[in-house]
Amino acid sequence: MDRRRFITLGGLAVGGVSLLPACGDTTAAAVHLGHTATGGAGAGEAVTTAEPFTVELPIPPVLRPTAVEGDTEIYDLSVRETTAEILPGVTTPVLGYNGLFTGPTIRAKRGKPAIVRVSNQLQHSTNVHLHGGYVAAVDDGHPMDGIDPGALREYHYPNQQQGTTLWYHDHSHHMEAEHVYRGLRGFYVIEDDDEAKLKLPSGRYDIPIALSDVAIAADGTLVFDSKFADRQTILANGKPQPVLRVEARRYRLRLLNGALHRLFQLRLPGVDIMQIATDGGLLPAPVLRPELSLTPAERADIVVDFRQAPIGSRLVLEDTTAGAVLAFDVVARADDDSKLPSQLRALPALPPATTVRDVALSFQPTLASFTINGQTFDANRVDAQIPVGTTEIWQVTNMDTKYGITHNFHLHLVQFRVLDRDGVPPGPGEAGLKDTVAVPPGSTVRVQATFTGFKGRYLYHCHFLEHSAAGMMAQFEVV
Ligand code: C2O
Ligand code: CU
Ligand code: CU
Repeated sequence: MDRRRFITLGGLAVGGVSLLPACGDTTAAAVHLGHTATGGAGAGEAVTTAEPFTVELPIPPVLRPTAVEGDTEIYDLSVRETTAEILPGVTTPVLGYNGLFTGPTIRAKRGKPAIVRVSNQLQHSTNVHLHGGYVAAVDDGHPMDGIDPGALREYHYPNQQQGTTLWYHDHSHHMEAEHVYRGLRGFYVIEDDDEAKLKLPSGRYDIPIALSDVAIAADGTLVFDSKFADRQTILANGKPQPVLRVEARRYRLRLLNGALHRLFQLRLPGVDIMQIATDGGLLPAPVLRPELSLTPAERADIVVDFRQAPIGSRLVLEDTTAGAVLAFDVVARADDDSKLPSQLRALPALPPATTVRDVALSFQPTLASFTINGQTFDANRVDAQIPVGTTEIWQVTNMDTKYGITHNFHLHLVQFRVLDRDGVPPGPGEAGLKDTVAVPPGSTVRVQATFTGFKGRYLYHCHFLEHSAAGMMAQFEVV
């Protein structure tokens, strides 16, 4: 039980090439953060012996509201220790919302508020953050605002923003990385009547897929440890290399990079990936993506038309680094009245910005910490005060060229627009509403956001969660 908690640097650079030794024996590759042991000793990683593509892709169940009061839907989630069969025949202790390794999907409706009641059945504090959600500060899941063991807490979500694929996850102080790793994540979809008019694939043809990675010890336990390079088991909705049997028709797939640290670069040879939405909702028009890259917490909704492949064929979603992630077996012909319109949703005009802020992301080897503008997170410090209603440009620079560490940048509360990366306008797949954006080593990304409505303190941080847990997080306050 003297496992220590290590943080290694950004093993994966953009391009999926690891720039660090896989074995973290240098200061640059392993930073000792002290003892926070929580589990069995890692006794070497278990080998996946299962045949690929034999287990079905689990689809997280849709959570029904427990009650409806007026126009408010009330949902219940409990956070508890549970087990999952990640590898066939192997029982793995995990954490789960309602006992599920990928929590249930909440499908809220735009304009209808939701209350999510969370009961903490863990022995320690947790909380819930609605990632990408436009919510009041008190409901944002601030790291200092935990739910005590045994306590119940209500989160109020207004669901005023346009239809989109959000996700909820733990955000407890210093523990967010480990909690999310062990299973505290789930989808939160906002359905929107305007979007429904477009007749995109829906119902059972609209499938959320969370990608993540784990290291599983020989005794079946999850290793949360140094070297993330060792998290070699890639999961889709909690299973390694599962298969989804599909009909020859259009599907909407809502992809989430739910890993702590891995960059996914996805391809689906044999059919076109048409991206229709970014983090914050629909793009102006579908975009053909021969390769789709997602840093942690980013989402992309895609439409895939399996009529492009013969019945009986198998298509494999592959990652540049990790190889096969998920297979689609095209099993049957089907009627399809869904559409993929050439126009989706126009983006609002960008209002003029009145403030420009600089945000520097850097690893500090001497402090063994990850910093923003040279400082680690301090809940008692406000790093940026923003008058309500203003529009700002944030210039985010990744200083870590020396170690080749990739970061990304996430702002709570708002959906922003990516203006450019090193002066170059974003590609069409990044040109929509975003809440998280990749910031490769040495680059500067400019984003623009308007801070309307809610006041109070919110976070911004790198979403490589081991970096934010080790300090790469700060606060803005809308006043
Ligand atoms: Cu997924 Cu602070 O966020
Ligand atoms: Cu967030
Ligand atoms: Cu980072």
